Amino acid sequence: MFKALVLEQEDKKTLASIQTLEESQLPEGDVLVEVDYTSLNYKDGLAITGKGKIVRQFPMVPGIDLVGRVLESSDNRYQAGDEVVLTGWGVGEGHWGGMAEKARLKADWLVPLPKGLEAINAMKIGTAGLTAMLCVQALVDAGVKPGAGEVLVTGASGGVGSVAVTLLSKLGYDVAAVTGRVEENGPLLKALGASRIIDRTEFEEPARPLEKQIWAGAVDTVGSKVLAKVLAQVDYNGAVAACGLAGGFDLPTTVMPFILRNVSLLGVDSVSCPFDKRQKAWAKLVELLPASYFEQACQLISLDQVAEFAEAITCGKVTGRVVIKP
Ligand SMILES: NC(=O)c1ccc[n+]([C@@H]2O[C@H](COP(=O)([O-])OP(=O)(O)OC[C@H]3O[C@@H](n4cnc5c(N)ncnc54)[C@H](OP(=O)(O)O)[C@@H]3O)[C@@H](O)[C@H]2O)c1
Repeated sequence: MFKALVLEQEDKKTLASIQTLEESQLPEGDVLVEVDYTSLNYKDGLAITGKGKIVRQFPMVPGIDLVGRVLESSDNRYQAGDEVVLTGWGVGEGHWGGMAEKARLKADWLVPLPKGLEAINAMKIGTAGLTAMLCVQALVDAGVKPGAGEVLVTGASGGVGSVAVTLLSKLGYDVAAVTGRVEENGPLLKALGASRIIDRTEFEEPARPLEKQIWAGAVDTVGSKVLAKVLAQVDYNGAVAACGLAGGFDLPTTVMPFILRNVSLLGVDSVSCPFDKRQKAWAKLVELLPASYFEQACQLISLDQVAEFAEAITCGKVTGRVVIKP
């Protein structure tokens, strides 16, 4: 028997409750894992509150991330006792996820816990941190170099944003952070490495097709009019890594930044990121994230606090990363 947060649907409403389940109820998979920690991402918030169509079938155990220890494995890549990390692959959406004491998963979805990384810190990184790393790598690969000018991060106080600020600063970029919570989170964002904090309202005015060139590059977690504004302000040859839709999934822009300024819009997905790229990104996160990140920008909660935090994250009221001990 084990404990899990279970999502069910009644009259089209999503209901979350903590239930005791049996191992035989777990979905099919080659690796049974005892979950040490899971985490709360924006997508989990949408799933748990029912505000977004994330869950593909009910009942569902949410949790798109987990770290834990292998209990049983029928795949020769993993043995009992191995520590593993999972992010993405539709877990917590179409396959029972991390907000439980146990999970049964496909071996293909797992990554060995990187050497030198504590289990809890793997979840302080989680999907959000992995996505931030992939965004930063996309900018590096696009030729955005430290010293070329300021790099902007939108939705900076969130999970992806706070890790992106930290990583970019660690790599020597001059980081500007856009937030809707300047007073509340400005000091934290500066401590993480931002040299300039900008109020989100400056990015919510409709963008002209081209505006004054300000940014060598950007990581955008917000989408919609904020991303449109960023694109209009990116330097000639600059690049924007776009991974999120916290402000909306539309994009009211024009082709002008692309055809007149050679700006690149780089799409970033972490859910189906292939194993080699994923493992390299995890190794880079271990190398780059300072101990101070884990101390400053993360909080630990229990399973019975998840519903409250899920509501908060969908309203943009959570700062940094939330780790859950099931
Ligand atoms: N592509 C992928 O593989 C992938 C992976 C992970 C996440 N994502 C997406 O990336 C985004 C961020 O995820 P997360 O887990 O970091 O979420 P999060 O912790 O909730 O962070 C999102 C941040 O965006 C800002 N924000 C919230 N509502 C907003 C609004 N209406 N308009 C403008 N800004 C708003 C807030 O920052 P401030 O208060 O500082 O403004 C908030 O903290 C989400 O859309 C998520 O779905 C995508």
